[in-house]
Amino acid sequence: MSTLREHIEALRNQIEALTANNAEEVEALRIRFLSKKGEITNLFNEFKTVSNDEKRELGQLLNQLKNNTQERINHLRDTFAGVQRQADKEDLTRTPEPIALGTRHPLMIVRNEIIDIFSHIGFTVAEGPEVEDDWHVFSSLNFAPEHPARDMQDTFFIEKDHDDVTKDVLLRTHTSSVQTRVMTSQKPPIRVLCPGRVYRNEAISARAHCFFHQVEGLYVDKNVSFADLKQALMYFAKEMFGDDTKIRLRPSYFPFTEPSAEMDISCNICRGEGCAFCKGSGWVEILGCGMVDPNVLEACGIDSKEYTGYAFGMGVERITNLKYRVKDLRLFSENDIRFLQQFQSC
Ligand code: DAH
Repeated sequence: MSTLREHIEALRNQIEALTANNAEEVEALRIRFLSKKGEITNLFNEFKTVSNDEKRELGQLLNQLKNNTQERINHLRDTFAGVQRQADKEDLTRTPEPIALGTRHPLMIVRNEIIDIFSHIGFTVAEGPEVEDDWHVFSSLNFAPEHPARDMQDTFFIEKDHDDVTKDVLLRTHTSSVQTRVMTSQKPPIRVLCPGRVYRNEAISARAHCFFHQVEGLYVDKNVSFADLKQALMYFAKEMFGDDTKIRLRPSYFPFTEPSAEMDISCNICRGEGCAFCKGSGWVEILGCGMVDPNVLEACGIDSKEYTGYAFGMGVERITNLKYRVKDLRLFSENDIRFLQQFQSC
């Protein structure tokens, strides 16, 4: 066996096992085997000395070895060039999947804003069930047994007892029911906000819906006065709608407050000059309020001679309409992504 054959054989095994860790190592391999003074180039020098009858076969083996080496080195080079290209293109510090953020619902944005404003003057949040009994929604709040709000027209009944209204189970028609839940489970001083969804049996239109949202406020302590109520509401109106907002309180009636009032704010759309939203009056009603009726305090086990309190309740949809000028109530519950996406930055 010629020495050249042995050399070819030995190199072929080496070439098959060639590996490299980076592009520089690949280049070093190329120089080692294929450069002018490389190991394979040297074999070609040796080849010049082999006998004629071996030339054909050894020539073929040598060429094959050279080609295989070239291929192997090209392959290794490609691997690292690929890694390099990938690294140039991609920012490896980024999260693998971009997280698509949803948008907060406009009613939730406004609800949170209301809670935030009142939390600065000491209010905390209390919640209650949507399926309620008659006592929490009506009886404890001083509604007479024959009060029209209990009527089938307004209230969705889950269970209706035709002889005894106090046995009724229903969907709450207002969040005032949570007042009762708080007053029967906590001792004054009480200062809570009760946000939640309420239900009424109304035909659905741009201006009415069978469910909507309210935020109720309740403050019970010694010496709470109507002036405290007015002060808290004025603070709220200015925080919510701007410092130049004016409020006015009009006498009203609710079974659970005495005296009762409705609060208007100067229309923030026309700045009080009169527009379609405020029907030309320059004022828009945003909530009902009053001093908690002593009957309600007593029904909940609070001594009405020692304690007084104020309460208020507002519709979140109405406040949202004023803030964002949404003209059709139905948009709030249709889940139309084109509507909801407009609140992306809020
Ligand atoms: N519960 C009333 C409604 O649904 C709103 C309301 C008015 C709540 C006066 C109150 C209040 O707490 O004092 O229309």
